Amino acid sequence: MAIVTVPDENRTIEDRDAIASYLAGIGIDYERWDTSRAIAPNAPAEEVLAAYSSEIDALKARGGYVTADVIDVNPQTPGLEAMLAKFNREHWHDEDEVRFIIHGRGVFHIHPREGAVVAIEVEAGDLIRVPRGTWHWFNLCETREIRAIRLFQDPAGWAPDYTETGVDSNYQPVCFGASYLPAQV
Ligand SMILES: [Fe+2]
Repeated sequence: MAIVTVPDENRTIEDRDAIASYLAGIGIDYERWDTSRAIAPNAPAEEVLAAYSSEIDALKARGGYVTADVIDVNPQTPGLEAMLAKFNREHWHDEDEVRFIIHGRGVFHIHPREGAVVAIEVEAGDLIRVPRGTWHWFNLCETREIRAIRLFQDPAGWAPDYTETGVDSNYQPVCFGASYLPAQV
């Protein structure tokens, strides 16, 4: 289950329906998918996509997504720091950012055009859809690993455009449950 915090309001939301409702209010879709199916977290990507094919197909139909893949990031990933550095500054995409978390944890910060910055810590079973144009940034938690299904309308739109506001530097990438990833230097 995700944990949502609003740092500037010293607010934490941990109830599933309350999370979905709050995030809907800032344009972010949040769902929980059943992860009890018989598939290992480290199963090959094709098996993961097959196991969740009904949910993926439903999302494709709803959002116009045409492709799905599985992203794997862990401390052994070549170029991990450079990859993380692309997404830990405030940016947006010309493409929805849709992630279903299979394994690991991370924190999306969402910066609504009006209203407080919201941190969404996601874990296995969480689906998040950050609509195109939404200002956001992403950090891994302490274990520095995440595995997720991604959906794309057009993978060409996935490159980040940076706001360069520096707002991201005002928020620590805090993960709860004693996981904490200090800002990288
Ligand atoms: Fe992004």
